[in-house]
Amino acid sequence: MANAVSRRSFARLFALGGSAALFSDPAWAAQTAAAPALTPGGASAGEAFWTSVRAQFVMPPDLAVMNAANLCPSSRAVLDTLTRETRGVDLDPSPNNRARLYPEKEKTREALARFLRVTPDEIIITRNTSESNNLVSSGLDLKAGDEVIVHEDNHPSNLNAWREKAKRFGFTVITVPQVNPHPGVAHYLDAYARAITPRTKVITFTHVSSTVGDLMPAAELCALARERGVLSLVDGAQSFGLLDVDLWAIRPDFYSGSAHKWPCGARECGVLYVNKTAQDRLWPSIYSAYPGAVGFSRTFEGFGQRDEATMIALSAALKFQTTVGRVEIETRARSLATQLLEGLRRIPGMQVWTSFDARRRAAVVSFAPGTLNAPKLATALYERDRIAITTRGGSDRPGLRVSPHFYNTPAEVDRLLTALSRYASGASQL
Ligand SMILES: Cc1ncc(COP(=O)(O)O)c(C=O)c1O
Repeated sequence: MANAVSRRSFARLFALGGSAALFSDPAWAAQTAAAPALTPGGASAGEAFWTSVRAQFVMPPDLAVMNAANLCPSSRAVLDTLTRETRGVDLDPSPNNRARLYPEKEKTREALARFLRVTPDEIIITRNTSESNNLVSSGLDLKAGDEVIVHEDNHPSNLNAWREKAKRFGFTVITVPQVNPHPGVAHYLDAYARAITPRTKVITFTHVSSTVGDLMPAAELCALARERGVLSLVDGAQSFGLLDVDLWAIRPDFYSGSAHKWPCGARECGVLYVNKTAQDRLWPSIYSAYPGAVGFSRTFEGFGQRDEATMIALSAALKFQTTVGRVEIETRARSLATQLLEGLRRIPGMQVWTSFDARRRAAVVSFAPGTLNAPKLATALYERDRIAITTRGGSDRPGLRVSPHFYNTPAEVDRLLTALSRYASGASQL
């Protein structure tokens, strides 16, 4: 049905609403233009391939957005799917038409399972990582006397959330301190091993930290948890869609992620992986209608009415990443981060918080820009240089955070480094 709606009828709908002017807007034209083909040969074709990857996104070519840790753009494939499926429902919101979307949603579950190398029976489609993390901290039967071990360097949805629920349910939260720079695998394995007691029920940590990009030894920590009879929750907000994540190898009990970060779409869609062996430990937090069709989703994912278009668009995002190449995406993003780190080393005054050791980080890079005011610098970079990065306030390793992804280029990283040198040397004033 949705496919039957021609572009012409879509244009007519807009024109009827008085929005015909939209079609003369260059930004709209860029967004609706057909996606150019990917250069054949994949990553082995070098920069020509990556330029064709960049062209799959509607960001204007002069805008360098290196903020994947916060929000990634959706690719044209995702935008097209989202638009098509949304229009399909709004053109015919009957139960008859909508029913065709449910099997499509199940295809997304299958795609997620393939992507994470687990089974569809273990996949819950959520709104985002925050929701996934909270479904775990609310759904486990924890009480006074139980302990949960969290890494200090977690997002509020996996730190404050545990502390707030501890107030209600009476369990105790034990915190493993973060050490900067990243002290290595042995340090964190030892810290967690020492923190676990007979009262420990869960350990949790962020696979790649959102603060400075520390890569945690996920497989080793999950193995430790299993050995000690403890559940493990891995927050994958910064690894899902960036690293070639293999949950079959990591074997966590729970893993969470958001579609709108590194997977590049769509917004307000996420995943919660629940290992088969842990499913009988997790109570649903929401009881409503429209559950999933297989495995744990049948009892756990009755979240009421959802936006199927968004969930189907996630499938397009995963397909696009698989076409580009999972390993190639990880390698590309990591190499841009390495280029940035090496460049920062050469700019006097930059205090880099992220590990220079590639085994201890991924593609999130944080640094304090010497005596420069970080918020003013970020504003100048955006307004004058068309480079978007983010600031980190507060007293914990404050400054700037740059998170390049596979749609960025070495030229954009060079542009950022050149601009930083200019501001740092005083050649450009803030
Ligand atoms: C490590 C980590 N966990 C959880 C979240 C929450 O993600 P969302 O806002 O998509 O729920 C973020 C967001 O930046 C994050 O970095």
